Amino acid sequence: MNIKLVEKNISDIDSEVTIEFLTKDELREHREAKILERAGFKAEQDTTCFLYERGAVFCGVESKKSDDIRSAAAVMIKILKASNFKSAKVSALGKSTLTALVEGLVLGGYEFNEYKSESKKIVLENIFIAANDIEFATLETIFDETLIVASATNFTRDIVNRAPQEVNPQTLCSLAQKLSEENSLECEILQENDLAKENMGAMLAVGRASVHGSALIHLAYKPNNPKKVISLVGKGLTYDSGGLSLKPAASMVTMKMDKAGACAVLGMIKAVSEMKLDIEVHAFIGAVENMVGGNAYKPDDVLVSRSKTTIEVRNTDAEGRLVLADVLDYAQDTVNADYIFDFATLTGACMIALGQYTTGLMGHSHKLKHDIARAGSDSGEMISSLPFNKHLKKLLKSEIADISNTASKPYGGAITAGLFLDKFIREENKKKWMHFDIAGTAYTETPWDCNVYGATGAGVRLMSSYLKNL
Ligand code: BES
Ligand code: ZN
Ligand code: ZN
Repeated sequence: MNIKLVEKNISDIDSEVTIEFLTKDELREHREAKILERAGFKAEQDTTCFLYERGAVFCGVESKKSDDIRSAAAVMIKILKASNFKSAKVSALGKSTLTALVEGLVLGGYEFNEYKSESKKIVLENIFIAANDIEFATLETIFDETLIVASATNFTRDIVNRAPQEVNPQTLCSLAQKLSEENSLECEILQENDLAKENMGAMLAVGRASVHGSALIHLAYKPNNPKKVISLVGKGLTYDSGGLSLKPAASMVTMKMDKAGACAVLGMIKAVSEMKLDIEVHAFIGAVENMVGGNAYKPDDVLVSRSKTTIEVRNTDAEGRLVLADVLDYAQDTVNADYIFDFATLTGACMIALGQYTTGLMGHSHKLKHDIARAGSDSGEMISSLPFNKHLKKLLKSEIADISNTASKPYGGAITAGLFLDKFIREENKKKWMHFDIAGTAYTETPWDCNVYGATGAGVRLMSSYLKNL
């Protein structure tokens, strides 16, 4: 299915169906008001009415603001894909709503059917977006960039959604390698022997019981004369069984999504390189599988991390922070970045604190949090700050090592996980670092907004928007 921006008025475009978004006020004044009313259409947000003979489909919106349009467009595309119409047209509405419209169509229309034996027949071929009287050049730039970011989001979703027997740490290496070739990125991969040379005792311990070798992936996008240098770090647990602190059966289901941070970081560098932003971006991924076995790392083990900080393992299911400890340390040594952002499905506690729809943001810089919050509202991804404090920090104290991998009290688990990572951020980088806990937002079993069942691609739109406006 193609989405095309057309330099025409909507009435001059030839297509089988016309899409219209209507507020309640607009419905009252509409030329089809009577028939829509008879059909029971009240223009409530995300409700639709298809007048097949008229070749018109309507979707209610609370307002013409981005969040409402994105959600309505996501509903609309599902209806059109289920119909037998070949083409549809819609007005761009405005500069800011065009982005929401395209996101709703591309992200809401996403399906992951790789493992279905029967392929679905979709008749819909083209959706035309009419520029109407809005200046075409500006609209075209917005349209092109939105398509890049939305496609990168779906690229991230595709990897997260793939089954864990298929996507293991080595598969992530091949996927990263392929992306680096297609997008002219630099690519360096550290395999287990290299990780041992780097003394990455924390990361190596987590992957020890897996039959798949752990790897650290480093991709770089280096334009000439970059304005800023950014390091993005992703948790890439291709499966999290919990290890010897085994997860209960029901909690293990969906743990293929524990690689979502890594996949998001891949989507981000893809988007940035395709938009050709003048920002140097480095992606660091810790690709590991957390399994059980005779050689598995254990609760009671004391690990020596790359930074020489010793870690008492009290729960092998708190593995993401161990992987990130070494990857963050490596990233800080390898690149002198202006900002370091890590993305991780780190804690169930984050979902308890904020719900499934909001990413948890942690760090020391108020200014950075503020700027990222702005990118959040621009991009339609919801984020909220979880504040550090010295009392929670004390809960990570270990009697026998420098730090424990779990806190001694269960409350504030998302923050104590963030504070564990903070231990591996150098003093000079404290204000440059932000941690994004995407445990709640990266995956969903019930569709919401422009997210369908499965991976959401959380972080990709947010970071693309942040980096674009840097
Ligand atoms: N990958 C999980 C966190 C998670 C849970 C992500 C649910 C998405 C949905 C992480 O490795 C984990 O297991 N964390 C533990 C930490 C605990 C042992 C301190 C958790 O959240 O229970
Ligand atoms: Zn875990
Ligand atoms: Zn995990």
